[in-house]
Amino acid sequence: MRLYAVFLKDHFPKIEYYSRFSPSPLSIKQFLEFGRDNACEKTSYMFLRKELPVRLANTMREVNLLPDKLLSQPSVKLVQKWYMQSFFELLEFENRKPDDPHALNDFLETLIEIRNRHNDVVPTMAQGVIEYKEKFGFDPFVSSNIQYFLDRFYTNRISFRMLINQHTLLFGNDINPAHPKHIGSIDPNCNVAEVVTDAYETAKMVCEQYYSAAPELKIEEFNAKAPQKPIQAVYVPSHLFHMLFELFKNAMRATNELHEGSKEGLPLIKAKVTLGKEDLSVKISDRGGGVALRKIDRLFNYTYSTAPTPSLDSKRVPLAGFGHGLPISRLYAQTISVYTTQPKTHVT
Ligand SMILES: Nc1ncnc2c1ncn2[C@@H]1O[C@H](COP(=O)(O)OP(=O)(O)OP(=O)(O)O)[C@@H](O)[C@H]1O
Ligand SMILES: [Mg+2]
Repeated sequence: MRLYAVFLKDHFPKIEYYSRFSPSPLSIKQFLEFGRDNACEKTSYMFLRKELPVRLANTMREVNLLPDKLLSQPSVKLVQKWYMQSFFELLEFENRKPDDPHALNDFLETLIEIRNRHNDVVPTMAQGVIEYKEKFGFDPFVSSNIQYFLDRFYTNRISFRMLINQHTLLFGNDINPAHPKHIGSIDPNCNVAEVVTDAYETAKMVCEQYYSAAPELKIEEFNAKAPQKPIQAVYVPSHLFHMLFELFKNAMRATNELHEGSKEGLPLIKAKVTLGKEDLSVKISDRGGGVALRKIDRLFNYTYSTAPTPSLDSKRVPLAGFGHGLPISRLYAQTISVYTTQPKTHVT
């Protein structure tokens, strides 16, 4: 650890410098308050031009502590290159005053470029970890270290993107006219059943590329607080969508694997959205045969998958195979339940 700190200091003094700061946690409540009250672009700029490099430097420091054999996988090297490039692009703004007429606009463009550059971090990192596992195997020690690392790595990525999205949506031109009431990426009145339907429809399109059919969906809502009203929450719809999309892909694959070609057709998938006194829950259930009890513990292990590893070069969106769908969905659920002041959302 000490040796590594010396290496960083000599070769990348800026990374070493920024990694000494801890990221500032922000709650959904803070995001909402900032976004609602005449959000100030200069304030956001001043905050992010330090906060984003701090977060990237902390993540890069953790990546560099991975086993050498994992770091030498081409996919992991590529991810490292993206982080490094984004870090140095952000440093361009270190000394640019917000009064410089172009600074705010350049910053916004840089953030959009960074967001796009990092779009494929998850499948690329997943590919690297799978390649490493295939070549060298995972002993239980390595496996639990990598599980710990990836949980932190992907959680950091979720909040890093959340910060970028809040800035670009509040101050950029990519405001979605269909959702004028959203505060950045947050919907103060997110209609849960609508997101369930969107995620189902998208998963269905992916499923139909692999199988000849997709199971139908039946949604039930139970609102204990206001029985006749649709269930709403203060939420980031894209995060809810992501979790549900993963669950639907899994449910559709399992259903097809068990029932494809059967005379009765495919049994439907059920989604039950419930708002109780304290919690909001979304339960997705399928008739795909479930998972054996002795394998249940593995479901949330990164790389655990019963599907073949998809190729990154394929034009088709993969239906399964990285073993990342469930563990990442859980991170989204945990991140938001920590952030939100609203009832906790459980995804099962
Ligand atoms: N609804 C389900 N029914 C039966 N098995 C399931 C279901 N959901 C998940 N599984 C099992 O758990 C494994 C891990 O699921 P997970 O979503 O994490 O990864 P994956 O679907 O294989 O790949 P991807 O990263 O593309 O989602 C699956 O490969 C499958 O064997
Ligand atoms: Mg999956």
